[in-house]
Amino acid sequence: MQIEMRGIDKSFGGNAVLKSAGFLLDHGEIHALMGENGAGKSTLMKILTGVYTKDAGTVIVDGQEVCYKNAQEAERAGIVFIHQELNVLFDLTVEENMFLGKEIKNRFGVCNKKEMQKQVRAILDRLGVKIDPNQKMSELSVGQQQMIEIAKALMVDAQVIIMDEPTAALTQSETEVLFQVVNSLREKGVSIVYISHRMEEIFELCDRITVLRDGTYIDTKRIKDTDMNDVVRMMIGREIGERYPLRDTKIGKTVFEVKDLTCPGVFQNVSFQVHAGEVLGVAGLMGAGRTEIMQAIFGNMPHVTGHIYIDGKEVQNKNPQQAIKNGVGFITEDRKVEGLMLEESIMKNISLANLGRISKNGVLQKKAEQDLVKQGIEELHIKCFGPDHECTNLSGGNQQKVVFAKWIYTNPKVLILDEPTRGVDIGAKKEIYSIINELAAKGVAVIMVSSELPEVLGMADRIMVVREGLVRGILSKEEANQENVMILATGGNLNE
Ligand SMILES: Nc1ncnc2c1ncn2[C@@H]1O[C@H](COP(=O)(O)OP(=O)(O)OP(=O)(O)O)[C@@H](O)[C@H]1O
Ligand SMILES: [Mg+2]
Repeated sequence: MQIEMRGIDKSFGGNAVLKSAGFLLDHGEIHALMGENGAGKSTLMKILTGVYTKDAGTVIVDGQEVCYKNAQEAERAGIVFIHQELNVLFDLTVEENMFLGKEIKNRFGVCNKKEMQKQVRAILDRLGVKIDPNQKMSELSVGQQQMIEIAKALMVDAQVIIMDEPTAALTQSETEVLFQVVNSLREKGVSIVYISHRMEEIFELCDRITVLRDGTYIDTKRIKDTDMNDVVRMMIGREIGERYPLRDTKIGKTVFEVKDLTCPGVFQNVSFQVHAGEVLGVAGLMGAGRTEIMQAIFGNMPHVTGHIYIDGKEVQNKNPQQAIKNGVGFITEDRKVEGLMLEESIMKNISLANLGRISKNGVLQKKAEQDLVKQGIEELHIKCFGPDHECTNLSGGNQQKVVFAKWIYTNPKVLILDEPTRGVDIGAKKEIYSIINELAAKGVAVIMVSSELPEVLGMADRIMVVREGLVRGILSKEEANQENVMILATGGNLNE
């Protein structure tokens, strides 16, 4: 299938977000679509697939001008969009999710469960994931949910698959599986639009790349004919230099310690310390228990035993409110569920997390609120139309920055970051790293969980590796490299 989009304009409430944008997709190619957060990538693809209507421009599919009215119509034409913010129904099972509205029925209208389960199993096998079709979606990790979305696209035999940040929640090994699947789809003539902020992936996987900046088409190049610096230049109009800004903070006394933290069946005897000014990286495969350990520290897991110490004093974090009071900040991996009130403005989201700071005698100080929000938008370069911009209408990466802004002004002693740069563009990533460094310089103990190994290696002072609910090792800066982390994460021993 060949797709040509030309002269696409789109405004929201008078704000132009696409200005004569365009895109050319060839049969059987993997085409990267890149650009900063808010550049218009998702919007352009939503216009192609009928989620949004365009204000101007043409869309031509295999020589015919088209205008799909909705996602179903695009899907029937063979174009499937796997969205950045996953659309899963948590109460349904895997199988129900995959066959929603497409149930296989016999001639009496009764669902053929056996056949559906068989098909689900076949597709999941092809993806190499071990998920039971009867499992509830809510029991799956974000990464597994992502795999189910991909499985759904395979199921309808799509000719064009648009993947918006598909690997943001996947671990290295799952990413490899995904790449195999994508490559084999290309061999069958399927075209893939691949949206990602992970430069390494683009260069490993894609044939061509198109860059958008501020809603405008910049250029399309063959991957062979470009390099990372060139792409960054196209994206932001300048170079950014080192990806991981240098931190030379003196590491101080122990600020945070957990001892024998256990949640039966989930993780056991987790013990570690974090010092003032230190960044402790936490690595492991998906499902290793990293997020659960962090949730437990934040008072968000039932049946947890063990001890938590802050500044040498034992604290009880029975619920998030208590944890916050004790000085723990938490930036979660799932901004849709826990991190943000999507229907609310940037202002509301930031100010609610900082009420103490912007109120006097229990009364909200309007001026202080506005100043704080303004500071957040400026310091984090949140691309928005102003403090009242609803979070649901922000681009994915900018939503993540709002989550960040919520927490960094609460002056936490310990800040837990769970996948802090998921879906964030390369320039903004560097801004976030700089903010992490500034917090460390102020003596905050930072815990950073990330599935992006280069990021952990680039940012952490030490790396704790978790596997199957156990701490397999804590690597010093000298020991920390990709190989050692992977050995521990997959169950090996370092001195073998
Ligand atoms: N429904 C909407 N209403 C108002 N503004 C919107 C809406 N959808 C998108 N926008 C705005 O359009 C711009 C482009 O957003 P889009 O989601 O296309 O960016 P993106 O390139 O996909 O970014 P990211 O890499 O962060 O996902 C952003 O400034 C966003 O705030
Ligand atoms: Mg997007």
